[in-house]
Amino acid sequence: MSDRELRISKIQNGTVIDHVPGGEALNVLAVLGIDGTGGETVSIGMNVESDALGRKDVVKVEDRELSQDEVDVISLIAPDATINIIRDYEVIEKKRLDRPESVTGVLACPNHDCITADDEPVATTFEVLDDGVRCVYCETIIREDITDHIVR
Ligand code: CTP
Ligand code: ZN
Repeated sequence: MSDRELRISKIQNGTVIDHVPGGEALNVLAVLGIDGTGGETVSIGMNVESDALGRKDVVKVEDRELSQDEVDVISLIAPDATINIIRDYEVIEKKRLDRPESVTGVLACPNHDCITADDEPVATTFEVLDDGVRCVYCETIIREDITDHIVR
C-alpha cells in the first residue's frame, strides 16, 4: 500500500504490531491489558488488505514497549506478526517472532485447584505444545482458544 493510501497514521513513538491475522487485533490488545480505560493512545486496523496475508490486523500503541512475556503470548496468536519499535517516526527495530518454549503470566490456568489459583498465587507458566499449552504446575492443557484464558 503506498503512502497515499495509508489507512492509519504513522506514530511518533511506540510499538506497531503488524501482520496480525485478520480478526485477532482485540486479542492482541487483551494480551497487553489494554481496554481503553488506561488512557493509552491506540490505533487499530482490522482486516486491512495485505499482500502477504490477504487480510491482516495492525495494532499501534503509542509510548509503550512490550514485555517479553507479552511478546511470547502474542507469538502464539499471531505467529507471523512483526513487532516494530518506533522512535521519532522511524522504525528503529523490527522483531519477528519465534514460537517460545514456554509462556509466563498473561494466561490463567483453568484448573481452580491449581497452585496458580491460590489466594497467594504463583505466576502461571505454560509449556508450549504443538497444539496448545500445558500448565507446568498441574499439567492442565489448554488446546482450544487460548485467548479465552487471557487475564489482565
Ligand atoms: N509505522 C508506523 N509509524 C511509523 C513508522 C511505521 O505506524 N512512524 C508502521 C507502518 O505503517 C507499518 C509498520 O509500522 O505498519 C512497519 O513499518 P515499515 O517497516 O516502514 O513498513 P514495511 O516495510 O511495510 O514493513 P514490513 O516489511 O514488516 O511489512
Ligand atoms: Zn495449573
